[in-house]
Amino acid sequence: MLHWCSRMEADSQISSKKYAADISSIKEAQKRISSYVHKTLVLSSETLNSFCGRMLYFKCECFQKGGAFKFRGACNAIFSLDDTQAGKGVVTHSSGNHAAALALAAKIRGIPAYVVVPKNAPKCKVENVKRYGGQIIWSEASMQSREEITTKVLQETGGVMIHPYNDRQIISGQGTISLELLEQVPQIDTIIVPVSGGGLISGVAIAAKSINPSIRILAAEPKGANDAAQSKAAGEIVKLPETKTIADGLRAFLGELTWPVVRDLVDDIIVVEDNEIIEAMRHCYEILKVAVEPSGAIGLAAVLSDSFRNNPAWKDCKHIGIIVSGGNVDLGLLWDSLNKAEP
Ligand SMILES: Cc1ncc(COP(=O)(O)O)c(C=O)c1O
Repeated sequence: MLHWCSRMEADSQISSKKYAADISSIKEAQKRISSYVHKTLVLSSETLNSFCGRMLYFKCECFQKGGAFKFRGACNAIFSLDDTQAGKGVVTHSSGNHAAALALAAKIRGIPAYVVVPKNAPKCKVENVKRYGGQIIWSEASMQSREEITTKVLQETGGVMIHPYNDRQIISGQGTISLELLEQVPQIDTIIVPVSGGGLISGVAIAAKSINPSIRILAAEPKGANDAAQSKAAGEIVKLPETKTIADGLRAFLGELTWPVVRDLVDDIIVVEDNEIIEAMRHCYEILKVAVEPSGAIGLAAVLSDSFRNNPAWKDCKHIGIIVSGGNVDLGLLWDSLNKAEP
């Protein structure tokens, strides 16, 4: 699993290989979305720094519109469409944050958003979709059911499919986080990014390594959905028969557009247990005073984990950017999991 590529290697890889997005598409995305998205805060905490003896910089995408980084990609995808394409609306399937972000971006553009939502999606994320005027079509929890119903909706509406991560405009939109972060904190040497389908980490890695080829990009992934770590070890996309984690945003698998980026530009993957995620959430609430969801706390969980301390890179990671990817948390469920986690 420890699969470090040298800085020189990363440099030549990014210039010689063609990925779904590149620094130009990410800069174009920034221009396109800058009047709609928030430039999010970077927070730091002496206390959290002292827990690990490193300088930590929390890029708070939980303060992004819609409560997650997803609004960047959704906005870029929707505002890239011409009027004829946009007129029939946009379609997607998502268990939460992408759905709400797409609904919000569609509302701003004044077009319909049809969202296929699995029945097990967290309530607060479904409420966000409704709040932003998205039209919900329910599916079963399985990916097969989500995809079948999405195909039907696409046929009926003639809308444009906007995939949650396997999409050039989505990846480019997410990459704008690195442009902002490296301007806000130029001394960052490492960025820790939650990984699921890989849209976020692909954009972040492409932009960051284009600006500074020696920057380290680490993924954070829950043990119960560690398909990206397994994919990296196997050298090909691995899909798991089932996933089990409190981080409901991190259950998808890498796609054909995101896998090459994860394979080549992500230096390593730190896998953490759910109890480490819950502990990191607690720190975010109690110390940082920030409402994060489990998927958003996983970067801090990774920094504080033994698996990172034992990683050969640990000694060189001095200034660590942590993408706090979202804050849409179902407080009832959170309370239950905190109580279950008590000894
Ligand atoms: C809060 C949060 N963080 C991280 C991710 C992972 O993003 P990606 O699927 O682009 O890897 C998601 C995806 O839904 C999410 O909602």
